[in-house]
Amino acid sequence: MLKPRHADSLARCFLENFPPPRPTMNSLSNKRILLGISGGIAAYKCAELTRMLIKAGATVQVVMTKAATEFITPLTMQALSGNRVHVELLDPEAEAAMSHIELARWADLILVAPATADFIARIANARADDLLSTLILASNAPIAVAPAMNQAMWANAGTQANVKQLEQRGCKLFGPAEGEQACGDVGPGRMLEPEQLVQECASLFKPGILSGLHLLITAGPTREALDPVRFISNHSSGKMAYALASEAVAAGAKVTLISGPVALATPERVTKIDVITAQDMLDACLQHYQGCDIFIGVAAVADYRPENISSEKIKKSEASLQIKLVKNPDIISEIAARDNPPFMVGFAAETSNILDFGREKLRQKNLDLLFANNATDTFNSDSIAATAIHPSGEVELGEGNKNHVARQMLKLISELLVQTRA
Ligand code: C5P
Repeated sequence: MLKPRHADSLARCFLENFPPPRPTMNSLSNKRILLGISGGIAAYKCAELTRMLIKAGATVQVVMTKAATEFITPLTMQALSGNRVHVELLDPEAEAAMSHIELARWADLILVAPATADFIARIANARADDLLSTLILASNAPIAVAPAMNQAMWANAGTQANVKQLEQRGCKLFGPAEGEQACGDVGPGRMLEPEQLVQECASLFKPGILSGLHLLITAGPTREALDPVRFISNHSSGKMAYALASEAVAAGAKVTLISGPVALATPERVTKIDVITAQDMLDACLQHYQGCDIFIGVAAVADYRPENISSEKIKKSEASLQIKLVKNPDIISEIAARDNPPFMVGFAAETSNILDFGREKLRQKNLDLLFANNATDTFNSDSIAATAIHPSGEVELGEGNKNHVARQMLKLISELLVQTRA
């Protein structure tokens, strides 16, 4: 049972109350892998390798040497990676889409598989005479090579010296494996199997606390039209939801953000769906909540909307104007009432009796966790102080900037999720 410890450190409290997160989470979640394919027969295995990297949660961009295109087509790799394949260094069209420098910066890891003896020699000598070797020189990302060549070429002193040089510069060596080779020889020089390469890649990254989990987050205000030019809305800036989305991605989660109109840039690696009204937001949530592990309702959804939307601009002819409002659907309650809902997290921004209203909303809306906060201090601000209310306890989160507090909230959510799934 969670012990209430107001004003105590959240981390300390939850370390006492909950076990550490699951150790088997997937560390490739959200990672950007630039797969460089050089010209060897093992290139055919890159189709499976790409599929498995994507299945593990990574995004894959493929760069091929010209020789590699003799073994597997760019079209195959494009279809599997879902991204245009890059081959030429001096291709104005490709540079306009994503320049080679952008591509070099984009990668969290460059994996060269297969890495032929020639390609290893070229990068050992810091050559930049094609796109892939240039990217390797231009990138600060870790580089890994998966050698694939005839056993005699692998054993050759020149190749061994090149490999040693690469390792001394911090390049990771994945394999090679021993066994039967395409040429009929037996010995070391086979490329590792795709499954082993995926494991090697995963071992380079630490899993985040939300790796492998899918979050759905609602954000911002909704707008309820009165006529073609006017609407009812509120002051929600969307900052808390956007901070949660970007911190969740950093913690390894896949994030779908369903956002009302806000003036914020979409955080990287987040899938954003724009909505205007509460009904739009509900429709989008119903379409996307299945398969999600965690739902966080941060949106300040308009509780009411005009019963009728005037098709013409309303004229100011009368001394007073009455507009009948009808209740909007309660999105979070609707999702919580479905079969097998995600772990449900709500927010309650109140101007008085913050904790009492928060406790009541947790119960009424059937939520797993709720963050109660003071609406007057929070809306549009860059900082927040909130109290986490859970069916078995409460924890006060000290005031901090929204990204800092978002990290605390996500840590708490991941720990409570482990509890509910145990
Ligand atoms: O507006 P209220 O204080 O009831 O909001 C509490 C929680 O319910 C928030 O998480 C908010 O996103 C959610 N909510 C909702 N649909 C509404 C009203 C609120 O999902 N119509």
